[in-house]
Amino acid sequence: MTALALHGGTPTRSRPYGAWPEFDETDVEAVADALRSGQWSAGAGENSLIGFERNFAAYQGAAYCLSVNSGTSALEVALRALRLPRGSEVLLAPYTYMASATAVLNTGLVPVFVDMDPETYNIDPRLIEPAITERTRAVMTVHFGGLACDLESILEIARRRGLRVIEDAAHAHGSTWNERGLGTIGDVGCFSLGFGKNLTPGIGGAVTTNDLDIFKHAIAYAELDAGPRHSRFDELGIDAAPAAPGEWFPYSAGNRRLGGVLAALAGAQLGRLEGQTRRRAAHGQYLSELLEDVDGLSSRREDAYVTRNANHLHIIRYDADGFGGLPRECFVEAMRAEGVDIRPGYVRPMHQADLFGDLNGELSLVWPRGDDGPDVDYAAMRCPAAERACQVEAIWVPQIVMLDGREAMEEIVEAADKVRHHTAALTP
Ligand SMILES: Cc1ncc(COP(=O)(O)O)c(C=O)c1O
Repeated sequence: MTALALHGGTPTRSRPYGAWPEFDETDVEAVADALRSGQWSAGAGENSLIGFERNFAAYQGAAYCLSVNSGTSALEVALRALRLPRGSEVLLAPYTYMASATAVLNTGLVPVFVDMDPETYNIDPRLIEPAITERTRAVMTVHFGGLACDLESILEIARRRGLRVIEDAAHAHGSTWNERGLGTIGDVGCFSLGFGKNLTPGIGGAVTTNDLDIFKHAIAYAELDAGPRHSRFDELGIDAAPAAPGEWFPYSAGNRRLGGVLAALAGAQLGRLEGQTRRRAAHGQYLSELLEDVDGLSSRREDAYVTRNANHLHIIRYDADGFGGLPRECFVEAMRAEGVDIRPGYVRPMHQADLFGDLNGELSLVWPRGDDGPDVDYAAMRCPAAERACQVEAIWVPQIVMLDGREAMEEIVEAADKVRHHTAALTP
């Protein structure tokens, strides 16, 4: 076995991964068309805000789509559109990006963390009911890395206990659950169009729903002045806002429009999303199969309802026992030196973020349930599966690697075997 790249040997992979984002003259033309149209705010043609919304709604299989300026905005607008009483509790797993939790807080709601299933890294439906209190009003399902949550179990609990379901589908463009697009199954779905996401015009977000009332409220909260959207309303045959005629600014709204030029770029990118999603999904399946024969590395469990995993992140579960006790950080460092782009991911689950650790600090300024400060004890919350994932187990393979090719998957296994061979020299 040759020397590790970390010790001066030849790396397993020396080529860079493909450039991200992928684009060509089609994208340039779409942007130029939007510029020339002069409809930089919204617009109604194919290369416009309205055009993108129509096409993205159709792609995911939603009746309605509202584009906004980030995934975080999408979550905030969606939560506001549910019109939950201030101080209501929203259940979510802490193995997620901080925006899932801050969007809850920033809309006057209280995030309550429920552990993930250790084998899927998604909210564990078995832990939802014990976490419900008289103030619980919603569950947020983060389809982590593009892998669908167990929506059947979650929707059943939600129906029985009167909870709304908001899907954080920031990673899940093109992912399906029982053949249905994610972000269209709960009450409302939220997508990020941020730069590293599977679909991006640089920055942006989208809210999807089949519920006209939620859609109208989403518009009302996202856009103080919904005037530029009138062509959209005409097209759908709906009124501009849920306000009664003659009402003058009845909502405490924000201003979160994506803009016509960025939307045109998002629309052009959407044209290649299906091909990219097929590639990532196929490579994800291949990697999972390869890892079945690799000691110490495995993929997440994919239940039958996962009919397509868009593999925004392919999560590898690392077991140090398969590598002679080598800590994950040392494994990742050696793999990266081999030219394999993997990362250890979140260092802490979100209930252990500094924001939730200091009850008298920032949290007390935004706490929605009174002046006495937070009455939820985040320090006492235990989510052992998420804690373990952060501390020792999770390894992320990012979407640009998943997009690359079957060879990139084989190189992960090849490099891991090389690292295993040298564990004695690596163990601190
Ligand atoms: C799970 C999840 N939700 C929400 C967001 C927020 O999206 P944005 O960065 O577009 O605001 C992200 C972004 O990384 C995310 O990973």
